Amino acid sequence: MELKQLNAFIAIADLQSFSAAAKTTGLSQPSLSRQLKQLETEMGVILVDRYHRPLQLTEAGQFFYDKVSTVLMELNTITSMTQRLSAPSATLNIGFVPSVLYGLLPEVIATLKRNNSNHSPDIEVNLKDISSYQQIEALKTGEIDVGFGRFAHQDAWIQQILLRHERYVVALPKLHPLADVSEQHLIDLANNRLILYHQTHLPVSTSHTKATGNDHLDSKQEPVTEPLLHLFAQHNITPLMTTKVSDLQVALGLVAAGEGITLVPASLQTVRTEQISYQRLVHENVTSPIYLHTLKDFIHPKIPDLLNAIYQVYEQRGITYRKQQFV
Ligand code: BEZ
Repeated sequence: MELKQLNAFIAIADLQSFSAAAKTTGLSQPSLSRQLKQLETEMGVILVDRYHRPLQLTEAGQFFYDKVSTVLMELNTITSMTQRLSAPSATLNIGFVPSVLYGLLPEVIATLKRNNSNHSPDIEVNLKDISSYQQIEALKTGEIDVGFGRFAHQDAWIQQILLRHERYVVALPKLHPLADVSEQHLIDLANNRLILYHQTHLPVSTSHTKATGNDHLDSKQEPVTEPLLHLFAQHNITPLMTTKVSDLQVALGLVAAGEGITLVPASLQTVRTEQISYQRLVHENVTSPIYLHTLKDFIHPKIPDLLNAIYQVYEQRGITYRKQQFV
């Protein structure tokens, strides 16, 4: 069994067409078809049902596709890591979710550059706005060397350091009756429309929904994975109405327009302050974690300096944190 046969099979399965697969692989159609035939003959299994258009995988073909595509992805990760190990890039590519950009990220980068200014060559940093989940793939392909996000990931290739827990604050329209209440309780917010903005694995709906009864607390139902609803559920509260939007900026835009309220990490409380009032929550456990993600087996040589810069900023600002090391 050869790698080129496996790649031909994956391309045909992905595109469900010999001609489309030929275009993307740069092979001729007869050559692609020959690779597939050789693979099937060697295995003694029909993988692709050629009588349907678009082409379909047989049951065995689907099983083989699921397993082999994982192995090929791992092979790509290994190849990219080996190349980076042999010649690490001079640039540190950093992925981040928008909420950390409003916080300490700019100060961390400035500190890293200042600390490195005596070194030659100067450190080059490239910043990329990318969701927590996409950061995992981007680390594997080498698109980024390090990622800052707000979710922990279970992935055999990835290690993460929990940097700190940041308190959430309530964002309310300036004219809201609770806008001037400086110590807020979640229970007092339950009758408001809660704007949700986190990108989770769950399908995103942009429609208004009504969360009635104890939908999120019923033990027979799926656990609540949406981060804001999860925080409310931990206090046995189900917001009466929710609206799901695509990102934090849109959520704050809706709050500014008086369409509802939301919870945001405290570092966001400088955004749209003319229309939005940010208030503290009394609950100490209503926090959002900040993680640093990197590969397990390849750490860019500048990442230890980056971690030192983060801890330096925390110390300068009196932020509580627990120092951690890479494994
Ligand atoms: C922080 O807010 O703690 C933080 C943000 C970005 C990078 C590192 C730390």
